Amino acid sequence: EVPAMKDRYEDSFPIGAAVEPYQLEGIHGEILKRHYSSIVAENVMKPVNIQPEEGVFNFEEADKIVQFAEENDMALRFHTLVWHSQVPEWFFLDEEGNEMIDETDPEQREENKQLLLERLENHIKTIVKRYRDEVDAWDVVNETIDPNASNARGLRESKWYQLTGTDYIKTAFETARKYAGENAKLYINDYNTEVEPKRTHLYNLVKDLLDQGVPIDGVGHQAHIQIGWPSIEETRDSINLFASLGLDNQITELDVSLYGWPPTPAFASYDEILESGRLFDQAARYSQLFELYGELEDKISHVTFWGIADDHTWLDDRAEAYNHGVGKDAPFVFDPDFNVKPAYWEMMGYN
Ligand code: XIL
Repeated sequence: EVPAMKDRYEDSFPIGAAVEPYQLEGIHGEILKRHYSSIVAENVMKPVNIQPEEGVFNFEEADKIVQFAEENDMALRFHTLVWHSQVPEWFFLDEEGNEMIDETDPEQREENKQLLLERLENHIKTIVKRYRDEVDAWDVVNETIDPNASNARGLRESKWYQLTGTDYIKTAFETARKYAGENAKLYINDYNTEVEPKRTHLYNLVKDLLDQGVPIDGVGHQAHIQIGWPSIEETRDSINLFASLGLDNQITELDVSLYGWPPTPAFASYDEILESGRLFDQAARYSQLFELYGELEDKISHVTFWGIADDHTWLDDRAEAYNHGVGKDAPFVFDPDFNVKPAYWEMMGYN
């Protein structure tokens, strides 16, 4: 039996995995217990699943994950209290069932904004009160920055933003702090946090919020990355930049896609992936990455993969979106049969 990942990094940070409830059992459950010291829900704690209708909370699936973490003495991340995606429509409807965003009358706008913020507070309060003793880190707000936005600050022009400006972010953190308590760890989470201009936009937003006294403890770096992108230097600079604000950093959704640069055709099967030799490039990448995380361990309190093994990855569904055709991806350190890959040996430091 190979050494456990969680033991290798025990003195540095927990090693986590995103899971669907079905993965708590069988072979997935075994791998989780053996190699991982933390879990997060891949989907079931998102707003659309937790409060599908106003006032109707569905905690059944989420509870299973919380219980598994407790029983196996694992850390637990909560993902996510607020997001522009996987959020139910009802948040943004007025009493007549119409979308609230197109209002021009200032009084009506203010009324809409207050209604939305009230719904947000209720959502957060209900969840946080239920899980406050079990959750170690909260993704309070997810993906607030969009470098393609038409505003100069790069703020994502979601419905949240259109109706409240940045007040939804403020309200979310303040409400989370109020009900989770002083010791709770609250994160603003995003992807491409390594690269410009996104990194600077996020830095400016966080600095501004901190200056206003908004209770943010750290930045969650999703780290949906590729073999050749972003660079290790950019990654280091980003962690150091947010640490310079006195903030913690967590790696929250790590996966290393086989696609991107250098270019490669879509793989139709795992056999094609094996034949390509690409897994060795990926292994080299994992080596550099975990060397960096080790170097920065005082500034990084958590490393979570966005999955357990290559049998199940959201990147398969995204193949088309990344414009390389519909193909299999293999971003983790365990293969689809749960055997270790070259990337495993490299991240464990056996190079
Ligand atoms: C993804 C899940 O993995 C998919 O199953 C789902 O269909 C869409 O969301 N950034 C995030 C995660 O913050 O919540 C996303 O998870 C992946 C990108």
